[in-house]
Parts: sequence; C-alpha cells; structure tokens
Amino acid sequence: MAETYSKMAQYYDKIYAEKDYAAEVERLVAILGDGRGRRRSLLDVACGTGRHLESLRDSFDVEGLDICAEALDDARKRNPGVVFHVADMTNFDLGRTFDVVTCLFSSIGYVKTLDRLRAAVRSMAAHLNPEGVLVVEPWFTPGEWRPNTVHAVYIDEPELKIARVNTSLVEGRLSILEMHYLVGTPEGTEHLVERHELGLFEVDEMISAVEGEGLVVTYDREGLSGRGLYLGRKAGRRGR
Ligand SMILES: C[S@@+](CC[C@H](N)C(=O)[O-])C[C@H]1O[C@@H](n2cnc3c(N)ncnc32)[C@H](O)[C@@H]1O
Repeated sequence: MAETYSKMAQYYDKIYAEKDYAAEVERLVAILGDGRGRRRSLLDVACGTGRHLESLRDSFDVEGLDICAEALDDARKRNPGVVFHVADMTNFDLGRTFDVVTCLFSSIGYVKTLDRLRAAVRSMAAHLNPEGVLVVEPWFTPGEWRPNTVHAVYIDEPELKIARVNTSLVEGRLSILEMHYLVGTPEGTEHLVERHELGLFEVDEMISAVEGEGLVVTYDREGLSGRGLYLGRKAGRRGR
C-alpha cells in the first residue's frame, strides 16, 4: 500500500477535504476525559498527513507514525516541531511509552490478516503507559461491507480536476478497493490506479485482539465518525 498510496499522497487532503477532523478530535478528547490536570502524551499510529494531530496537539504532547514517508512530509509541514516516525504499525519500537495511542480512520484495516491485526495491537499496546488508553477506529466488519457497489469523488478546482472512481469488491475476508484516478492539471491528464486491500474483522475478533494484550476493552458502536471505536485501557498505576 505504501508505494501506491505515495503516488496520490499529494492529493489525499483534497480527496478528504470534507472530513471534519477537528470535530472528530473534539469527540475523542471528550471520550478520553481530562488528564486530571496533567498534560498527556499521545502517539497517532498511521497518522497519514497528520490532520487529527493538528487538533490533538492542542490537548496532548503528540508524536505520529506512518509507513508512508510522503504522507509524513505533509504531516511535518502541518505540524511543525512534532516528531514523526516512518514505521510499520505491525512491528515498531519507539523506545518510549505514551498515555494514549490512537489508530484512526480505519487504518487498522490495512493490516489485512488476523495475525497482523494481533501484531499491530501488540506493538501499539507495548507503547502504553500504565493506565494508558489504546483507541482504534475500525474498518468495516464482513457483514457491513457492501461489495459490488460503485463510488466516486470529484475535485473541481480551476487548475486541478480529479475523478476518483472505484467498485468495491470482496475476496474472502479482504475488502478490495481499486481506485481509478483521472488527474487533470495544466501539464496534462493522467490515469493512476491504486489497489487498496483492507481486512474485514468481526467485532469479537477486534475485541479479542485488544483483550489479548491484557487491556480492558470498551466498544462504542458509533465512535468518532459512525465507524465505531474500540478503547483498550491498560491496568496499573501511573507514576505521580
Ligand atoms: C486512510 S489513511 C488514514 C490516515 C490518517 N489517520 C487520517 O485519518 O487521515 C491510512 C493510513 O495508514 C497508513 N498505513 C497503512 N499500512 C500501514 C502500516 N503497516 N503501518 C503504518 N501505517 C500504515 C497509510 O500510509 C495511510 O497513511
């Protein structure tokens, strides 16, 4: 996914211009409650171009991580002074821990398989402080996914036209999104194709991956954007 994503990374924010990151962060901050007077640390895993971090950094000391270096270039421009790590969420070690670790906008789906889901949750949970919270916004469950449906997004600016069209498909427990982009600029028009494959996990599979790391799980069916939200709280006592 990294190399295909990187081709379109420059247009990612335009494609998702309608997504209200600030409102989602407001909901997340309300869910996480106040830090009892203490400013908390937060790692956003698969942070992409850093749009959640842009708002999260008002309330937390933040760092970001993503497998795509091009997306992190944009994240750095948007969030000067914030530390970003190029790493794979299924296997990373930053040598420090955080009060909150997030993985938002269904990025967890890119792990594709249950084994890799468990590996990603293991890596993220290993970066939690005692009493820390893991927050995972899931992709669709097998029952929610609607294969053989057609979708399109259009960008219409004076010097940039994009049509992104895809037919959503399914292969076993993988959802397949083959995104066809027609990108028109004053230099010319090109056709790019990106294949995204995301694993379809059941609610109980997500819960058991988080519980398997010893975290106490809460599942909120609505979450930040209607896709649901898993919270996994680590036991123990924070140093005071
Ligand atoms: C849908 S985007 C979400 C980005 C960001 N969280 C947001 O809300 O805009 C999915 C992100 O997951 C990242 N990603 C995919 N596989 C990854 C992996 N194995 N490790 C880390 N990041 C990954 C992609 O590079 C991409 O930035």
